[in-house]
Amino acid sequence: MSSSRKARWAAAGGAMVILGATAAALAQTADVGRFGFGRIATPQEIAGWDIDVRPDGHGVKKGRGNARRGQEIYDAQCASCHGTFGESNNYMVIAGGVTKEDLKTGRAASLKAGEVRTVGNKLNYATTLWDYINRAMPWTNPQSLSVDDVYAVTAYVLHLNEIVPEDFELSDENILKVQMPNRYGFTTDHGMRSVSGKPDVQGSLCMKDCVKEVKITSELPQYARNAHGNLAEQKRPLGPMRGIDTTRYDQGKAAAVKVAAAAPAAAAAGPNAMDVLKARACTACHAVANKVVGPSYQEIGAKYASRPDAATYLVEKMKAGGVGVWGQIPMPAQPALTEAEAQAVAKWILGGAK
Ligand code: HEC
Ligand code: HEC
Repeated sequence: MSSSRKARWAAAGGAMVILGATAAALAQTADVGRFGFGRIATPQEIAGWDIDVRPDGHGVKKGRGNARRGQEIYDAQCASCHGTFGESNNYMVIAGGVTKEDLKTGRAASLKAGEVRTVGNKLNYATTLWDYINRAMPWTNPQSLSVDDVYAVTAYVLHLNEIVPEDFELSDENILKVQMPNRYGFTTDHGMRSVSGKPDVQGSLCMKDCVKEVKITSELPQYARNAHGNLAEQKRPLGPMRGIDTTRYDQGKAAAVKVAAAAPAAAAAGPNAMDVLKARACTACHAVANKVVGPSYQEIGAKYASRPDAATYLVEKMKAGGVGVWGQIPMPAQPALTEAEAQAVAKWILGGAK
């Protein structure tokens, strides 16, 4: 999480703010709600969260922006990820799949064919696009655009999708009137809305011809991968879909795919060395490639590479601690380190610590 994001989270904690609350504050507000903790969010905190812009006009902000100005913003702040014409195949395509016919019928034919899915052919309201860009983009610096700039760049994305002309000025006055190509393509006649509705998933397809391999079809550019902190640390360490380790992306990617494909096997494979090192605070004294207080894991790996009982030796030494092999600073005993954890670390070190 970037520091600005962190500040946002801290400042706008939702209905119940408990993080960072002092004992005095808690005592003062202990009568709030039936749980007896937290406090009522302030109007400013609520305003920080309450930014949704809806098709019925709720939340629409006063302002305007021309698609030509939008192009300048887009080229400077969006094209690096979404492609010059929104056609990025490295990351998310945000333009295409719209025909003149769709604009007339209000149903995007390309969606049915499953060719391409973009904000142009999938959304039914322009307010949704405005809301999304305003709330979440640019990815590395969300909520940094002014209201007028959000109008401008939204107009330009609409233009890239051939929904509005190149000099279109989008504003609070006309955003509800924009005719999206898929405006009639949505239905409420499905299982999410009513028990008798048609389910989204029938289940029969996967009884045969099941997907055997997870195929990644789009990827964040390298430089943006760790933009919001390490995703692996932000997800529960349970279940098949852990976050990718964005600090070690190339290894994390492979691991994430493997976990998604074979979750039970991965869980049975034992502790992950990197997780152990972090959880047991070994990182306070050791780093992967350079000496900190103690030797680097790579140095250790190299030193014992040809020793036949290396793993047993390392497991013992890690648990008992010791001094004199690398210098005069002792390594403290690690009573909390379990046998399985020590073995996972030894295996990882002897495998080259990568
Ligand atoms: C660093 C890369 C990056 C930059 C720069 C960036 N985006 Fe994005 N964009 C993303 C990612 C990643 C997602 C998908 C996020 C998700 O699914 O949670 C996304 C999603 C979107 C979507 C939704 C697409 C869909 O099909 O649902 C829109 C629209 C969009 N971005 C517009 C913009 C605009 C406009 C800018 C510039 C102001 C911008 N983006 C800058 C990475 C980026
Ligand atoms: C307070 C600092 C400190 C902490 C915490 C620490 N180490 Fe060490 N570690 C050292 C020092 C110093 C040495 C070198 C000891 C020596 O010269 O014999 C060392 C040596 C090692 C060695 C090499 C042993 C050898 O004989 O070559 C391994 C493996 C190791 N540490 C793993 C770990 C693991 C795993 C953890 C966490 C569970 C950990 N260390 C926690 C300081 C630390």
